[in-house]
Amino acid sequence: MTRHFLRDDDLTQAEQLDILDLAVELKKDRYRVKPLAGPQTVAVIFDKSSTRTRVSFAVGVADLGGSPLIISTANSQLGGKETPSDTARVLERMVSMIVWRTYAQAGLEQMALGTTVPVINALSDEFHPCQLLADLLTIREHRGTLAGLTVTFLGDGASNMAQSYLLAGAVAGMHVRIASPLSYAPDATVVSDAEAVAATTGGSVTLYTDPAEAVAGVDVVVTDTWVSMGKEDEKAQRIETFGAYQVDSQLMALAKADALFLHCLPADRGFEVSADVIDGEQSVIWDEAENRLHAQKALMVWLLEKA
Ligand code: CP
Ligand code: NVA
Repeated sequence: MTRHFLRDDDLTQAEQLDILDLAVELKKDRYRVKPLAGPQTVAVIFDKSSTRTRVSFAVGVADLGGSPLIISTANSQLGGKETPSDTARVLERMVSMIVWRTYAQAGLEQMALGTTVPVINALSDEFHPCQLLADLLTIREHRGTLAGLTVTFLGDGASNMAQSYLLAGAVAGMHVRIASPLSYAPDATVVSDAEAVAATTGGSVTLYTDPAEAVAGVDVVVTDTWVSMGKEDEKAQRIETFGAYQVDSQLMALAKADALFLHCLPADRGFEVSADVIDGEQSVIWDEAENRLHAQKALMVWLLEKA
């Protein structure tokens, strides 16, 4: 049966570990496997802007022997005249995999239902699961393990990054804390899904409104833009609402002395994070960005093996 990667809990803990292990191997020996040699084509579709996702998928597909086809929705029929499922029916006749960055998660689900080739979520309003594979790879590289670590995400708790931390962290057996204003708490269904997974992996999920309480003694501190793509009209109000959640050196000092700092980028220095933290010694953002390549290559190899 074709496997898709639409949200972080599409993988079991063992599957997530297999993919991270493969990513480590591919990082050591970048051109070792060529499952897309032929070359086969992978469609990589963007409804929203991207630097890291676009480049890491293009380079990753080429590393695996394939040919990436980057499509901007603005220049395609998808999103205008054609449904995700009809698009999927056409693409599957020509490509080996579909990678899509879009708005509503529901569109990805329709795309996946309509096709026999794997569909990968390259970011939706609800989740950013490819980024989480890279984040987990980065944390494991620096800490040697994932299960049992405590990670705090601060800012927009209803954002794709916060919600992916809930699910992916729970799958990994981590203790996930989200610190957000009450009005930006994660979706209740996502929280209960994460709680159900955490109950099987030894992880946990806790929601906070107080940033200081949320970062006390933690291993990893994470934040993301306060103004996700599609929310630009709310920028002024969001900057005001999230002001108390900035990760600055005072807040970092409440976490473990060697706590890691992660940010998926792009970052707004002086808003969600101060420059001294994001550019400081505890920050692992450049490893995190590079790991998009290795983690997604491992994911693609794994999905092709299952297909
Ligand atoms: N982190 C991330 O997904 O970056 P891009 O928007 O540049 O792809
Ligand atoms: N939460 C951000 C992530 C960007 C990679 C957004 O959706 O814009």
